[in-house]
Amino acid sequence: MPLTAVRHVRRMRGGAQAHLLEADDGHWYVVKFRNNPQHRRVLVNELLSSALLEYLQVSAPLTALIHVPPEFLAANPEVHLTRGAARVPVEPGWHFGSRYPGDPGLTAVYDFLPDALLAQVANRDDFRAILVFDKWAGNVDGRQCVFYRAMVRRERAAERPAFVARMIDHGFAFDGPNWDFPDSPLQGLYARRQVYGDVRSLDDFEPWLGQVMHFPEEAMDQAWKRVPPAWIEGDEDALQQLLERLFERRKRLPELIAACRQTHANPFPNWA
Ligand SMILES: Nc1ncnc2c1ncn2[C@@H]1O[C@H](COP(=O)(O)OP(=O)(O)OP(=O)(O)O)[C@@H](O)[C@H]1O
Ligand SMILES: [Mg+2]
Repeated sequence: MPLTAVRHVRRMRGGAQAHLLEADDGHWYVVKFRNNPQHRRVLVNELLSSALLEYLQVSAPLTALIHVPPEFLAANPEVHLTRGAARVPVEPGWHFGSRYPGDPGLTAVYDFLPDALLAQVANRDDFRAILVFDKWAGNVDGRQCVFYRAMVRRERAAERPAFVARMIDHGFAFDGPNWDFPDSPLQGLYARRQVYGDVRSLDDFEPWLGQVMHFPEEAMDQAWKRVPPAWIEGDEDALQQLLERLFERRKRLPELIAACRQTHANPFPNWA
């Protein structure tokens, strides 16, 4: 659903210089602007990834197009970008928003958890799921996620508070601004390798591996139709080629995942 920014909260860390904004649906979004310092294509990568992850049912924030009107920018001068010492205005228009899990005044969100708490994350399986996606999408960044506490029901037990992980930052899927697939074995892995402790074979990447290998063309079509034309002006052919290559490389996923084991730092020590 397209939304409009109504309030500024704060600037976030990171190379894209995102800002946390409240939108007119009463939720908060980490917003990457079209003229962010990384590249305009980073927004396309985020939106495409979000649609593909939704299809694969991997735990990631809801995303939305956020309209930032000129009046909002005039009333909130803190919402700007910097390049060196220079101040760069945000272009009014449509930007990319990743929904913050709750009210930022009440919900603590963590970029990292200590190992003992990481072992207790309710949805640890999602680290294997997202690796399938990252290898498919050629994410050249390390895996990034955020954690927060929520009430979680496991099997038939009563709801209990637990940490939940949400996968974020898909700006460098498809090799970021390059829209390419350089495929190095270490890329896309989460730095804390204990999340892969359960991996003993390729079977441990199911059902996501099978889902990607049989990914329907219609779902890819629906993903790119979500991208606003202003984000891909002049890039239409390049985007089509990117999606064709992405569709083709589905079949190579078993090989791309298995290649992680050939590095000096094998992330899957229990895969005999
Ligand atoms: N949906 C979200 N909910 C809560 N926090 C978020 C969300 N998305 C991003 N963040 C926070 O904002 C920060 C910046 O986001 P992100 O990593 O996507 O941007 P980036 O500028 O591309 O960063 P990098 O420099 O790592 O490439 C993250 O480190 C995280 O703390
Ligand atoms: Mg990041």
